[in-house]
Amino acid sequence: MRIDLVTIFPDYFSPLSLSLIGKARERGVLDLRVHDLRAWTTDPHRTVDDTPYGGGPGMVMKPEPWALALDAVAPADPDPDPDRSAPRPRLVVPTPGGRPFSQRLALEYAGAPWLVFACGRYEGIDARVIDEVGGRMDVDEVSLGDYVLAGGEAAALVIIEAVARLLPGVIGNAESLVEESHVAGLLEAPAYTKPAVWRGRAAPEILLSGNHAAIARWRRDEALRRTAERRPDLLAHLEAGRLDDRDRQVLAEILGP
Ligand code: 6GU
Repeated sequence: MRIDLVTIFPDYFSPLSLSLIGKARERGVLDLRVHDLRAWTTDPHRTVDDTPYGGGPGMVMKPEPWALALDAVAPADPDPDPDRSAPRPRLVVPTPGGRPFSQRLALEYAGAPWLVFACGRYEGIDARVIDEVGGRMDVDEVSLGDYVLAGGEAAALVIIEAVARLLPGVIGNAESLVEESHVAGLLEAPAYTKPAVWRGRAAPEILLSGNHAAIARWRRDEALRRTAERRPDLLAHLEAGRLDDRDRQVLAEILGP
């Protein structure tokens, strides 16, 4: 997969040389390129922002540096033949006004050949840029949640980590991903490791039993309990046909019948 990032803070992305993502880049699984938006300014002060039309506080990112940057990073494909044409990049614009990012969207992005991130600061990017490039790229304005970050950079890091770990071969243990899809829609059961008793607290005995079926059942019970307590909104999305009698019993103990 190829990922291009356009930002006024290229250094913000140095963590992408570490850990799983750093290794994926070294191995060529991920071709990640960071671009400084100011390279596409044309004035001596390398200006990227201006006051908002209509007034109000803050600054808005000027359209022209963004358009030049996106033209250079993801040029329009000159070949009209879909068989020979280059992959169409997907443009991700992190913004608190976007649609919610989710594991489902992460999976969708993980199947894309090419993502471009436009990281805005201040009060956002002049809205005409999105319309202008929308003709040749699929554009997603995406939000991480209901709070406001100072810019799109931290959000882009989060989205890239969620996507990159789904790429084939990035996580050493592919079983983790299979397990994750089994418990999709539920919070995970708590995890424990040695010692069996730590500061007087015993790990749940069943996890030391070697009884794999009983352990799987215990974990599912705990996942259902946690979800009912912490994220009852998620239960509405569970398919009724995928709940067995024991699942229903556990949920009823917490929520009532
Ligand atoms: Cl994606 N961007 C910014 N700037 N703030 C956010 C966000 C994104 N998601 C939540 N808050």
